[in-house]
Amino acid sequence: MSDFQMTEAEMQDRLDLLLSTGINPNEMPKHIAIIMDGNGRWAKNRGEERIFGHLNGVESVRAVVEAALQTGVRYLTLYAFSTENWNRPKEEVAALMDLLVTTLVKETEDLKGKGVCLSTIGDLKALPKDCQVQLKSTAELNPEPHRLDLILALNYSSKWELIEAVKDIIKDGVTEDEVNSEMFESYLKTAGIPDPELMIRTSGEHRISNFMLWQLAYTEFHFTPVLWPDFRREHFLAAIYDFQNRERRFGGVPQQTDK
Ligand code: IPE
Ligand code: IPE
Ligand code: MG
Repeated sequence: MSDFQMTEAEMQDRLDLLLSTGINPNEMPKHIAIIMDGNGRWAKNRGEERIFGHLNGVESVRAVVEAALQTGVRYLTLYAFSTENWNRPKEEVAALMDLLVTTLVKETEDLKGKGVCLSTIGDLKALPKDCQVQLKSTAELNPEPHRLDLILALNYSSKWELIEAVKDIIKDGVTEDEVNSEMFESYLKTAGIPDPELMIRTSGEHRISNFMLWQLAYTEFHFTPVLWPDFRREHFLAAIYDFQNRERRFGGVPQQTDK
């Protein structure tokens, strides 16, 4: 990613925001991944159809993109539609796809102006044609240099991604000796993107639902009961704060603090 120049005032605002919430600006996660969950329950709590929850979830997406920009997170991956989500009623699936297109149409200019680069992981071929076209035209307007990589996991599942990688490795005639972690990662859809340090799942569910199984190997998980349409900057900041108070050991022993 090329460097995006921030103004002094923007840098000061960032520092003020982080310090006021007890977040250490020098230990920010570079990559945060979010399983946006609970739209259906949010709507049901209000006696509304599930799609009402999805519509309101868009405001939360806006809020986390803004929060990522304000806090200096460089990569934000949002799980928007899993390969298993095709099992939902066809009206709900169609409404989700429409919502994706209308949101992209509405937000592209703003994203571009803010230095957000949009990309996707997932099998786009199976998405409706208008979604594919809109995703492509939004990505064509990606600004350079940019400030934030916004990665949408769309028709994504980790098992699909891993199997695709294995197929491509076989196609390329890679030999047994050449197989290692680094090489394998280069075949994943997230090649070149650092693994998320923090994964947030909303709505009180404690599972991965086929999301980034490889990439989350050493990620810290933050589960919150907040339903996705209620998720705002304060929740995002709370997750980062929680992350910074974890001890990441990577198989080692606790840090010695009392030398
Ligand atoms: C997340 O909310 C949105 C998608 C998976 C697309 P849900 O629609 O899963 O909401 P709940 O889990 O049924 O409440
Ligand atoms: C995971 O949420 C998928 C997305 C957020 C896109 P689901 O609501 O589909 O997950 P399960 O079915 O409860 O595990
Ligand atoms: Mg759900």
